[in-house]
Amino acid sequence: MNPLDTFAEIKSTCELAFKHDSAGKTSTASTFRLLHALIRYNRPKNVVEIGCGEGWSTAWMLQALHENGSGHIEAFEPDPSSAENAVGLLSSMGSKLNATWNIRRIAIEEEIGRILADFVFLDLEPKENYTKAMANIEIERDGLLVAHDWKIASPVRDFADDLAGKQWDVTTLAGERGMVIARRR
Ligand SMILES: C[S@@+](CC[C@H](N)C(=O)[O-])C[C@H]1O[C@@H](n2cnc3c(N)ncnc32)[C@H](O)[C@@H]1O
Repeated sequence: MNPLDTFAEIKSTCELAFKHDSAGKTSTASTFRLLHALIRYNRPKNVVEIGCGEGWSTAWMLQALHENGSGHIEAFEPDPSSAENAVGLLSSMGSKLNATWNIRRIAIEEEIGRILADFVFLDLEPKENYTKAMANIEIERDGLLVAHDWKIASPVRDFADDLAGKQWDVTTLAGERGMVIARRR
């Protein structure tokens, strides 16, 4: 298949499929579109989001899983009012989705079990805590770790450099706030 055709299809799908206006939110529309496209291409089954805020990024990822036909998002958010808003936003997407979701109203460090995932979106504050946040998370082989704010936050650049020295293939995108995309070898 011609990659340009695939890209055009994904772009039109995500522009048409998702109705919520993301203007003024912490992340921008192109960050959301990138997450959507990565999930459509890579077809993960177990998505974990660390720092879902009011649920905008979560909603875009959920929409992508829905379009894939299956999948689950486990999203961590310790701030009660943000978590409440996230629950409201995801609930507004309806009960007939092909994918499932769960908002965990705790900080990732409070999770005592080991979490298995094949796609993780890391977007908590402060950015210094990215390494600590990943302590209990195991990403399957070929799974993706996507980390926000590579361009604007030096701790995220250090985090990406650390990954590159280990069992990860790492690439970075300099657009907008910057993104790290790492694939587990
Ligand atoms: C930048 S906002 C998330 C924005 C959201 N991902 C989006 O794109 O719409 C960062 C969030 O991380 C949450 N947070 C902070 N520490 C956390 C932790 N230890 N575990 C999980 N979430 C955390 C904050 O409460 C805040 O809502």
